[in-house]
Amino acid sequence: MNNPLRIGVAGLGTVGAGVIEILHANNAQISARSGREIIVTAVSARDKNKDRNVNSDIFKWLDNATELANQDDVDIVLELIGGSDGVAKELVESALSNGKHVVTANKALIAHHGTALARMAEQNDVCLSFEAAVAGGIPIVKALRDGLTANNIDRIYGIMNGTCNYILTNMAKSGRSFADVLDEAQTLGYAETDPIFDVDGIDTAHKLAILASLAFGSEVDFAAVYTEGIRQVSPIDIQLAERLGYGIKLLGVAKQTLNGIEQRVHPCMVPIDSPINHVSGVFNGVVVDGDFVDSTIYEGRGAGAGPTASAVIADIIDIARGLRIPAFGVPVKLLTKPNTVAMSEHYGPYYVRLMVVDAPGVFAEVAGYLRDHNVSMESVLQQSRDLGEPVPVVMTVHETKEFDMVNTINDIANIEAVVEYPTMIRIETFQKH
Ligand SMILES: NC(=O)c1ccc[n+]([C@@H]2O[C@H](COP(=O)([O-])OP(=O)(O)OC[C@H]3O[C@@H](n4cnc5c(N)ncnc54)[C@H](OP(=O)(O)O)[C@@H]3O)[C@@H](O)[C@H]2O)c1
Repeated sequence: MNNPLRIGVAGLGTVGAGVIEILHANNAQISARSGREIIVTAVSARDKNKDRNVNSDIFKWLDNATELANQDDVDIVLELIGGSDGVAKELVESALSNGKHVVTANKALIAHHGTALARMAEQNDVCLSFEAAVAGGIPIVKALRDGLTANNIDRIYGIMNGTCNYILTNMAKSGRSFADVLDEAQTLGYAETDPIFDVDGIDTAHKLAILASLAFGSEVDFAAVYTEGIRQVSPIDIQLAERLGYGIKLLGVAKQTLNGIEQRVHPCMVPIDSPINHVSGVFNGVVVDGDFVDSTIYEGRGAGAGPTASAVIADIIDIARGLRIPAFGVPVKLLTKPNTVAMSEHYGPYYVRLMVVDAPGVFAEVAGYLRDHNVSMESVLQQSRDLGEPVPVVMTVHETKEFDMVNTINDIANIEAVVEYPTMIRIETFQKH
């Protein structure tokens, strides 16, 4: 066997402790598959005296995580701290420029600085690997970079945030409000005390930007991702969507269109019998459409110590085996600058809910605005008639440009009988484009 491969671990939280546990528990298989022993030589975290799930006393401790980049007995630095900048970025940059491989689970870092870091890795002839950064235990980075590499990818979409999926699944099951279910998710530990990154779609946007780069061979462009979260999803829309044959999911969608690349994160209505609608609770699911392979689907746990650490170790084993694949599948100089399609140019079907006081003539006015903006109605559903009380009127419309849909809704909002600003949800269809 070759010399052991020596690991320095920065961050001993959920993921870092998980990595050390699996390396210990599955040591024999991991060594056999790697062709060499994998050993942890040094670790760093904020507080040396903290009670942890792992015994950190048996490793060399460094108070300053960036020092891992200078250790002679470290071949691979694991960056498991988090954050798009600060210590994590400093450590990764120093490690790469000192000729050490880097494995990270940090989607924020890769979404913001992925192209520059991949360039540094190439210049120093080392690997930058981040399988764990997207969809936890699901090997979606490898699927795109390796397994599907013969294909042109038309579209990739998925549920990439377990917290949002847990909340939407439980709202649908129980009819409870977003705030209620978020509260429960926080109590159960499925949502952070500060849930902004999850529920406002930012975490999904980080992951989508990374997947889009891998799928389309373009530079990572987080700023190009249109991002909307799930705070506005209400039980009434979930109920009405079901009556129309749809579920509501927070999707990240990246699509190659004739005008460029669309990258968007927002609540979507998806056909109730589609595979993606069956991905429930904290699970993640990603669908990739390739020109020759057709549609492929990946489902599993998107977070947690075991699944995430499993992905980190898969990257370590690749490096141990001597695999040297460019971070985004092609050398950085071949990555294209993505031509981003603005959200206003998005073209698709929509669901619109109006709250209407049953006034004669309101339909005629709505139909007039639809006609003015070239929007074609597919169906309409009116729940019940309670004289004087606002009732929901739901329309679905055929494929329309977002710009026209938004203008139509702004006009409809001014109708006197429409008592609150209309709700609009995009419908995602899954026929190949
Ligand atoms: N948790 C998941 O399920 C999951 C899934 C996919 C990806 N990720 C990503 O994995 C990374 C780590 O997440 P996590 O959940 O393991 O986080 P975590 O439980 O909060 O752990 C973070 C670790 O980093 C250490 N740390 C923080 N600031 C530091 C500093 N300045 N210097 C040295 N160490 C520092 C902390 O030290 P102390 O322990 O001393 O406080 C802690 O051990 C993040 O990028 C996250 O996005 C996590």
